[in-house]
Amino acid sequence: MQLHFYFFIIFFILILNFLNTRRRSTSSTATKMATMVAGNLSLTPVTSRISCYSSIPGFFKPLSSISNSHFYRNFAAKIRASSVTAAVETKPGTDVSENEAKAKKQVLACPICYDTLIWNGDPVFSVDSTARSSLKCSTCKKAYGGNGTHLDLTVASGSKKYGEYMPASSELFRLPLVSFLYERGWRQAFSIWGGFPGPEKEFELMKDYLKPIIGGSIIDASCASGMFSRLFAKSGLFSLVVALDFSETMLKQCYDYIKQEENISKENLILVRADIARLPFTSSSVDAVHAGAALHCWPSPSAGVAEISRILRPGGVFVATTFIVDGPYSFIPFLSPIRQSIGQISGSRVYLSERELKDLCLTCGLVDYTCIRNRRFVMISARKPT
Ligand SMILES: C[S@@+](CC[C@H](N)C(=O)[O-])C[C@H]1O[C@@H](n2cnc3c(N)ncnc32)[C@H](O)[C@@H]1O
Repeated sequence: MQLHFYFFIIFFILILNFLNTRRRSTSSTATKMATMVAGNLSLTPVTSRISCYSSIPGFFKPLSSISNSHFYRNFAAKIRASSVTAAVETKPGTDVSENEAKAKKQVLACPICYDTLIWNGDPVFSVDSTARSSLKCSTCKKAYGGNGTHLDLTVASGSKKYGEYMPASSELFRLPLVSFLYERGWRQAFSIWGGFPGPEKEFELMKDYLKPIIGGSIIDASCASGMFSRLFAKSGLFSLVVALDFSETMLKQCYDYIKQEENISKENLILVRADIARLPFTSSSVDAVHAGAALHCWPSPSAGVAEISRILRPGGVFVATTFIVDGPYSFIPFLSPIRQSIGQISGSRVYLSERELKDLCLTCGLVDYTCIRNRRFVMISARKPT
């Protein structure tokens, strides 16, 4: 049932792209959409780069970034210098950047043992060097490696015969066509029927929640083709950005977009394949986790949020967006058993209500839950207790 729904979405996006070719005046449509969304949320409109819509006939270009703030860049650089180096013992004669790289590498862990990984090779922490690295768990000795575009830190990585298959809601995003379409209409459709403000505005909204961890590390969990990972990297607000997803095709697309963009630093940005229910990071090591439009796709949201809670350092921030189902929807007769049946077939929890989302965060050990809503869009935030 869920698959039929997704095929309908693909069909809808192809129609949208076709219409887009004919209309050509894409920028005016985008301007209208940005204004409408800003109006709905009653917030100051972000100076969005509407020019992110493509001149390539027939397709939207990947969504683009907000402009960098010099203030935040300098501020983040200062915090970065103090927070990262503090975590590493400084040996006399050792380069500061080497220490920073070492500290960041200690964040990554074996998804089986959760112990630190031993790195072979390039000490630089960047898109290309990590995608070419080989690592070994210090405890179970399992080897992990990069495939040229990302580092595979799934439990089953390197298996010869065994293939890991997820429920439909996760597997869908491993299809190359879906990865290709994701920033070429699929994501934009969330604004139309869900009230999602769009990546740039969502980033602006989440900055309020992220203020306490500016200068620290951020995991873009279930990043898909990396629209937020790129915004995070370009903002200069974080010492490390990890673009993480279970789908190899999404990560490949993410890598291609990063390569195409000139004004994006490839340092302190890495691409990692991992399952949200088994995150390859040491406990209490990460400053923030963002999960955009993803919670409803995870096979077990509680396993995902519990893992996020484990890896966040005390005071660390979790911020996520998803579709919400409550208000008038909660009066639909038999909604609960219908959702349960859909969930059992598709493997996802479909959409949660606000009360369920809050309960989920609190039961996974997070505190200070808050949320912002716009129609079926919700941005939630919670933090790990100090
Ligand atoms: C709708 S996309 C969200 C993309 C992006 N964050 C955004 O805001 O548009 C959902 C993503 O969740 C990922 N996903 C699904 N199951 C996952 C899992 N078990 N672990 C990690 N990522 C998963 C999919 O591969 C897909 O890229």
